[in-house]
Amino acid sequence: DRPLTLLGIESSCDDTAAAIVRGVPGQAHVLSSVVRGQGALHAPFGGVVPEIAARAHSEKLDVCVADALAEAGVSLSALNAVAVTAGPGLIGGVLSGVMFAKGIAVGTGLPLVGVNHLAGHALTPRLTDGIAYPYLVLLVSGGHCQYLIAHGPERFTRLGGTIDDAPGEAFDKAARLLGLPQPGGPAVEEAATQGDPGRFALPRPLLDRPKCDLSFSGLKTALLRQRDKLVVDGRLLRRDRDDLCAGFQRAVADILAEKTRRAIAAFRAAEPNGRVLSVAGGVAANREIRSSLRNVCDAEGISFTAPPLALCTDNAAMIAYAGLELRDAGISHDMTLAARPRWPL
Ligand code: KG4
Ligand code: ZN
Repeated sequence: DRPLTLLGIESSCDDTAAAIVRGVPGQAHVLSSVVRGQGALHAPFGGVVPEIAARAHSEKLDVCVADALAEAGVSLSALNAVAVTAGPGLIGGVLSGVMFAKGIAVGTGLPLVGVNHLAGHALTPRLTDGIAYPYLVLLVSGGHCQYLIAHGPERFTRLGGTIDDAPGEAFDKAARLLGLPQPGGPAVEEAATQGDPGRFALPRPLLDRPKCDLSFSGLKTALLRQRDKLVVDGRLLRRDRDDLCAGFQRAVADILAEKTRRAIAAFRAAEPNGRVLSVAGGVAANREIRSSLRNVCDAEGISFTAPPLALCTDNAAMIAYAGLELRDAGISHDMTLAARPRWPL
C-alpha cells in the first residue's frame, strides 16, 4: 500500500486543531498535531458559548493549519487529501472548519474528506496501537458516551449510550455545584484524592436495567441534595467537598464498570473473535475510571488500551487518520459536503 499524507482539521467544539498524519490504515504516525484551546474565552460564562467558539475558530484556523504544516515539514503539494470534521458539533465551528477545508481543496485540487467527529475518536486506537477490526470502543467525553463496535472506518454498531448527560458533562456540573473550576473532571479528580468515597451513598442509575444504556443526570441531582444538607452559611467545608467528589467519582466509575461488563458480553456475542476494548474521550484521563475499566477487562479476559491523553481529548490527528482510512477506501466528497450539527454514527 502506498502511504498517504493527510491534513486534518477539527473545530466542532472549543478546540481549534490541525494535524498531519502519514501512513496506511493500521500503520500511520502523527507528524504534527496542533491544538489551540479556547478555555479562557469561555471561562467567564461557565461553559462553551457557541458564538464565541465559532468566531475563535474562524480567527485561529489559518494559523493552526500553517503551524501543523510547518511542524511536520510538509507543504500543501505533498498532501494526498484534506480531512475535516463535518459534524456532529456546534454548527458555527463545524462550518468554519468545513469552509476552510473546502477553500484549501479548491485552491490545491486536493480531494476533500468529511469526517464524523465520533468516528475520529473511535478510530484513534488504530492510529496509536494499530488495533485490528473488530474492536469495542467506549467513548466518554464532555459531549458523548457510547459503546461502539468498530468494524470499519464507516461501519459501527452502537450497543448503548447515555440517555441524558455525558460523564464529562456530569463532572463539569459537579465541579460547578461544589465551587471547583472548569473543566470539572480534573478538578473533581484532584479533590477526590483527599476524600472518602464511601461516606455518601450516591445512586447508580439504570444498573437494574439489562442493556448498556447509561444515565448520569440523577447522580448530579443527588449530589446537589447532599451538598445542600452540608452547606452552612453558604459555605461547604473542604472535607465535605472532597468526600462528595470522591463519592461522585466512585459512582461514575462503578456505573461505567458495570455497563462495560455488559457491553463486553454483547460484543463477544456479536464478534466471537473480538479481543480488545479501547477507551476514548476526555474522561478517559481519569485514573480511577481507567483503572476500574482495566480491572473489568482483566476479569473478562479482554485486552484494554487507552490512547495517550493528547489523542483522547479533541484533536485533529484523529480526524486526519479517519480521513486516511476513508481515502484509502476510495472515499472523498465534493463541494456539496454539508456541516452537520447532528450526525449519529
Ligand atoms: O474529549 P473532550 O476533550 O471534549 C469533548 O467533550 O469532546 O472531553 C472533555 C471532558 C470535560 O467534560 C472534562 O471535564 C472531562 O472530559 N475530563 C475529565 C478528566 N479530564 C477531562 N473527566 C474526569 N476526570 C478527568 N481527569
Ligand atoms: Zn470529542
